[in-house]
Amino acid sequence: MTNKQAKNVLTGDRPTGHLHLGHYVGSILNRVRLQDEYQKSFYMIADVQALTDNTDNPEKVRSNVIEVALDNLACGVDPLKTTFFIQSAVPEIAELATFFMNLVSVSELAQNPTIKTEMMQKGFVLNHEIENFEEIKKTATENQIKVQNVSAGFLTYPVSQASDILIFKGEIIPVGEDQLPVVELTNDIVKRFNATYGDLFSIVSPLVSGTTRLSGIDGKAKMSKSLNNAIFLSDSRDLIEEKVMKMYTDPTHLRVSDPGKVEGNIVFEFLDIFDPKKEEVEALKLEYKKGGLGDVSIKNRLASVLNEIIDPIRERRENLAKDPKAIMKILEEGTMLARETARETLTLVRRALKIDYF
Ligand code: TRP
Repeated sequence: MTNKQAKNVLTGDRPTGHLHLGHYVGSILNRVRLQDEYQKSFYMIADVQALTDNTDNPEKVRSNVIEVALDNLACGVDPLKTTFFIQSAVPEIAELATFFMNLVSVSELAQNPTIKTEMMQKGFVLNHEIENFEEIKKTATENQIKVQNVSAGFLTYPVSQASDILIFKGEIIPVGEDQLPVVELTNDIVKRFNATYGDLFSIVSPLVSGTTRLSGIDGKAKMSKSLNNAIFLSDSRDLIEEKVMKMYTDPTHLRVSDPGKVEGNIVFEFLDIFDPKKEEVEALKLEYKKGGLGDVSIKNRLASVLNEIIDPIRERRENLAKDPKAIMKILEEGTMLARETARETLTLVRRALKIDYF
């Protein structure tokens, strides 16, 4: 393709589960577009990062490497345009992270908003004497997780992520909004490294997709695997219908003839995002507000809209899944290519740090 911008795009997923519609609108569609707009795109399967909070479950991380690869491939992330690779198979990333560790303080990691939020969600605490321990314990009990002291691996994953990005000279970093403080830390590392050892790295730009984070089918929170409110790209037609039928609408809309609320009604939120026929959706909203339009009828519409999007993805996914060796080959070839770039960067870093002995 001509007219591609001469910048590197780098993004990744933690392989902890199948990807869902939230990932699709929030990141995968973006990747499919960006791989045509920029000269080089890297897609990393962040298994090392996944192990920081799935430390006792390596089997889960291992089995989901291929699942997230399948999800991305089925949606059109193209290995001819995007270099797919596995984080752990590029050990240079870990080496660079070791050097970056010296440029970041423990307290700034503990205060990083992304880390703070995730520690809260996962029941990780710095130590049991901290002031909001009771609050953390309460949230953890509600979510049926145990409270434990945070590992150095988890606390420092933003440093490792800075290394993911900078070792490949990533410049455009598509991430979810929740990851912005991690990208900010990457830029702090760039400035500190350059000031200490000489100019080597460039400032990176996060790219947050235009779509706000998709709600889960329960309407209570954003779509997430762990909250059990997700529609997966690998779900069957029937399962998607079943999930749409369970979707949160307007609890006061009891009879078809009752006037209904559109705001906060998840079915309409989804129709706004996924239904290509915007005018029809607007007309349906008016009818719903007036009364006379039943939930089942809008849900039937949504189920078929979603299946129209997911049918071809599911079909491609099933076909690709028949040949797991071919998928592993894509990952292996991509990893070899990515590693060349990583090695080049590390050579420059070793020289800058004066540890290039032989
Ligand atoms: N932390 C990211 C997430 O949870 C995944 C990730 C790992 C990543 N390394 C990255 C994203 C580098 C962008 C760039 O979604």
